[in-house]
Amino acid sequence: MRVRIFDTTLRDGEQTPGVALSPEKKLEIAKKLDELGVDAIEAGFPVISEGEQQAIRLITKANLSAEICGLARTTKKDIDAAIDCGLNYIHTFIATSDIHLQYKLKMTRDEALSKAIEAVEYGKSHGLQVEFSAEDATRSDREFLKHVFSEVAKAGADRIDIPDTVGYSTPQYIAEITKDAIAASHLPISVHCHNDFGLAVANAISGIQAGAQCAHVTINGIGERAGNASLEELVMALQCLPFGHGQKWETGINTKLLYATSKFVSNLVGIKVQPNKAIVGENAFGHESGIHTHGILNNPLTYEPISPELVGRTRWLQVGKHAGVHGVSAMLEEYGVKASETQLKLILDKVKAIGDQGKQVTEVELLSIANELLSEHPIKRIVQLTGFSVSTGIGTMPYAFVKLNIDGTDYIGTDYGVGPVDAALNAIQKITGEIAKVRVKEYKLDSISGGADALCEVTIKVDDAYGNVASAKSIGEDIVTTSVQAVIEGINRIMFKKTLKQKKIGN
Ligand code: KIV
Ligand code: ZN
Repeated sequence: MRVRIFDTTLRDGEQTPGVALSPEKKLEIAKKLDELGVDAIEAGFPVISEGEQQAIRLITKANLSAEICGLARTTKKDIDAAIDCGLNYIHTFIATSDIHLQYKLKMTRDEALSKAIEAVEYGKSHGLQVEFSAEDATRSDREFLKHVFSEVAKAGADRIDIPDTVGYSTPQYIAEITKDAIAASHLPISVHCHNDFGLAVANAISGIQAGAQCAHVTINGIGERAGNASLEELVMALQCLPFGHGQKWETGINTKLLYATSKFVSNLVGIKVQPNKAIVGENAFGHESGIHTHGILNNPLTYEPISPELVGRTRWLQVGKHAGVHGVSAMLEEYGVKASETQLKLILDKVKAIGDQGKQVTEVELLSIANELLSEHPIKRIVQLTGFSVSTGIGTMPYAFVKLNIDGTDYIGTDYGVGPVDAALNAIQKITGEIAKVRVKEYKLDSISGGADALCEVTIKVDDAYGNVASAKSIGEDIVTTSVQAVIEGINRIMFKKTLKQKKIGN
């Protein structure tokens, strides 16, 4: 069965504390969602601001394939604002739980029901497609909820949505009220699950198993408090998990774009994805432990339920204290380094000793450990930092001087930047851009301990004009020096990869 994906990243997702998007950014995200293949985009809540209306107008005019919807309370003012933005599809809502009625709306159940009916009738009389949500449905009186669903259906609603507003439902309960909603309304049902207890995706799946045809989701699961059901997780679970009983689902999502879309949204909204998040977290396809790496190298299915390529990703291996000979050997082989069993054992001992100090071993470090131990296979650091200074202050433009030795020749680079890190990176790239066509593609700075003397961690990704990509990490006390070290490491790795490829071609 085909499940409809209603994406609310631009409405519920934007309600994430600290997130506010300009109309242009909202349009950019809407285009990405459309490319991804969502069926509907909730573009915003028109009545809240001029900027929100501008964003929705831009999106409605963008000729996207997805249906574009706007949120409206059950008032004429809200529905008119939606119409003014060029929308022909609204998602109108009113709370039905006693707790919301008493403390927020100060209304009786009957008053709320009348407002719901009036709003649906008003929307339909203006030719709109109307999806009705009973806010806080899962904490509402079950008989009253059925009555509301049946009455709004009679009033002409096109779709019913069941919001689990505070993530209070269990999978069993949302299944039961989904069946109630179908019986009471005979309309297509959506489920809108929040993640306060970490059950949003499980609840959405349970609603779908009970007959809901649509799920409201957000990219990376962003949204109020603990967020909404995450689009990536729901889509992949529906597509890949063995539900049994002949249950099989598909969506219109191009799963290969999931990771890129997640990154795009994360960068634009400024909310990082937790590393251990399913499907799109950095660690979702990374392997460190020796046992796992060994299994993966024999057959990836041993420790990967799906292939990373299916969601637009690649697997990565890392060595640390859990490493085993197979992982170390595979990582070295990527760089053309073949070590004997005894040599591998020696390398592994060193890696584990570093791991026991609480550190991870990057590929460059692994290569230099191997370099020390395998004298017959010297691995040379092609780029050496031989001189470096920066100047910054108020009223003066940050400036950097960098001296590099590349394969025996000295090069000097100088440049300005918006800050000292930018100036240093610009100066390095001036040299390496010309010599090796390497540029810094991504730069990430994290503080890993508190206080003014905190350690910082810099992660960078570099690419070159020949399609090579490499990443590197450096930890230190000084942000500028640590950034420079990370970039030099990345450049060394990419140049090493390039040299190796050239050697292989030459052979
Ligand atoms: O979670 C919720 O209840 C909502 C409503 C606006 C439907 O987002
Ligand atoms: Zn919500």
